[in-house]
Order: sequence, then structure tokens, then C-alpha cells
Amino acid sequence: MVRLLLASVVISALSLTVALASNRAVANDDIVFPANYSQFVLYATYNEAGNRPELLATGQLRELYASRATLEAAKAGGPLPDGTVLVRVRYDVARDAKGEPIQDAQGQMSKARLLGFGVMEKRARSPNSHPEGEWRYRGFTADRQPNHDGIQPEACFACHLTAKHRDFVFSYERLVSANK
Ligand code: HEC
Repeated sequence: MVRLLLASVVISALSLTVALASNRAVANDDIVFPANYSQFVLYATYNEAGNRPELLATGQLRELYASRATLEAAKAGGPLPDGTVLVRVRYDVARDAKGEPIQDAQGQMSKARLLGFGVMEKRARSPNSHPEGEWRYRGFTADRQPNHDGIQPEACFACHLTAKHRDFVFSYERLVSANK
């Protein structure tokens, strides 16, 4: 009985080690909120209720920010350079008395309250980067602290994998065409 118990303790310790090891392979906990964020430039806004039913359904809009150097690099073409940081800002939208998102004549929603941030950072040479992509991901709360309860980095990566053909950046075209 004791032996059985011991064995199960050893097994759970082992699986914990494996879990920790595989987490470490894609660990994102050294991704910090960019210190130079105040110099970042707004390059895209996603607030069209009509074109993006998912935004209307969640009552959220999003703004995307990058540094000027990133916008220049995107304009020059090709994959974005190592060290690139992109920020997605999520807002709750203005709502009517019934709580429904308010749309203007163009079907656009307007921002009401900051919900949080998503940060992705390119670390081409990091052994901790995702094997299939060089970006690392982390969610931040409205007060710019790591968001431990929100979407986890693995889920960020899994979804951004669908934008693999454009360097995992959904808004790549918007980055290229941003006229700032
Ligand atoms: C279900 C899919 C999905 C998940 C999960 C997801 N994203 Fe994204 N992400 C998008 C889409 C689509 C965009 C394009 C802008 C938009 O629609 O908000 C985007 C845009 C971004 C951008 C701007 C650069 C780009 O790719 O256009 C950043 C930065 C970002 N996401 C970070 C994150 C982080 C960090 C997480 C996890 C905490 C995350 N995302 C989770 C789909 C996703």
C-alpha cells in the first residue's frame, strides 16, 4: 500500500516535471509590458460591428500599436526584425441603456473602458520561442500587469498560427500601409 502510494507520488512528481518542462519550452513569463509604449503609434483600429460580428458579440473593440521603427521595417517588406514588439489594446465599447453596443451611422463602435493588452514580441534566437514561430505572447491587465487569468500564451500562439503566412501577424497589411 505504502509502495503503491509512493509510486503514485513519484508518478505525479514526474508528470509535474514534464508539464513544467513543456511549459518552459514556450515560457512567456519574461515578456514584459514595453517600456517605450508611450512612443508607439496607433496603426489599426478594429471597431466595425458590421464587418466583424465577433466584435459586436463580445462588445469589444481593438487598437493596434507598434513603434515607428516597426512600421518602417514592415514597409520595407519581409518578416519583421528580431525584437519587434506589437501591442493589441482591448476596450469595452459604449453601450445603450439595455447594454447593447452602440453603433454610429457607419456601423462603428466607440471605446468606453480599457480592458487589457496583448503583447507579442519576436525573439528569433531565443530557445524559449515557439518552435514554429519566433514570436512570444503575453496578456496584460488594464494596469499593465501580467494577466494570469486571461487567455494563456499557448492559446495566443495557437490562434496566431493561422496567420503564419504573414509572419503570424494578422494585421500585417495594415502595418505595411500605415501612413505615419
Ligand atoms: C482566437 C484568435 C486569437 C487569439 C486567441 C489571440 N489573438 Fe491576437 N489577434 C487575433 C486577431 C484576429 C488579430 C487582428 C486584430 C483584431 O482582430 O483584434 C490579433 C492581433 C493581435 C496583435 C497585433 C498584431 C497582429 O497579429 O495583428 C497582438 C499583439 C496580439 N494579437 C496579441 C495576442 C496575445 C498576447 C494573445 C493572447 C493573450 C492573443 N493575441 C490571442 C486573433 C487572436
